[in-house]
Amino acid sequence: MSVQTKVYEGKAKILYTTDDPEILLADFKDDATAFNAQKRGSIQGKGNINNSISSKLFQQLEAYGIKTHYIDSPGPNQMRVKALKILPLEVVVRNIAAGSLCKQTGLALGTVLKQPLVEFYYKNDELGDPLLTGDRLFLLELATPEQVDTITHLALQINNFLCDFFRRCDITLVDFKLEFGLDSQQQLLLADEISPDTCRLWDNSAQSDPNLRVLDKDRFRQDLGNVENAYQEVLQRVLKAVESN
Ligand code: TMP
Repeated sequence: MSVQTKVYEGKAKILYTTDDPEILLADFKDDATAFNAQKRGSIQGKGNINNSISSKLFQQLEAYGIKTHYIDSPGPNQMRVKALKILPLEVVVRNIAAGSLCKQTGLALGTVLKQPLVEFYYKNDELGDPLLTGDRLFLLELATPEQVDTITHLALQINNFLCDFFRRCDITLVDFKLEFGLDSQQQLLLADEISPDTCRLWDNSAQSDPNLRVLDKDRFRQDLGNVENAYQEVLQRVLKAVESN
């Protein structure tokens, strides 16, 4: 067996080579960062929890007909994934106004959007992941018009599926971030992770309390406490919803 080489280290995951050049091993970390890594910390057990949640959601999405990079999960914080060329885009889908949408538009937190909003951000830490216009995206040649159309369509399909899935967990999917990559056949696949790090998830049974309802990384970003418990709660509900399928 060949030695595993680190090919990429992000804020939440490390990617290693495997014996197969088409396959990488992702190690999910407990490290947590926010505000472009200006705030740093650790969430105990996060690597295992986010790997488990992401693995289940990718399996569910595959069964729904969405192609993902997911292969399997050989260890508690490990996911084997297809090696992709990741597009430098963060694709955000929003159903309810929160986070940077409120900050940049003045919309009140919790405003239900008439239709889902799909936004493209430039995945570039040095620049602080700025929001892109369509023209800037094409100017920088970050994706082709066909790829943008396909990604938008996929993001909305994924949103439909995830909204339904989380409704069965008694959770409202406020917004989330996706990443996509190209395989060796230039096929677009869903990549990265789907977890409380990358979604805003509000507990339906605590909707009247803006602090209690938060089951995602906003607990870390805003120092709301009980971060591990919230992540664990999401995992338990996801597992239950998958079992009852
Ligand atoms: P935002 O409101 O801060 O723009 O975040 C929108 C969604 O994207 C939210 O669910 C959190 C997620 N997100 C990430 O996964 N990574 C990031 O770096 C940022 C800024 C947001």
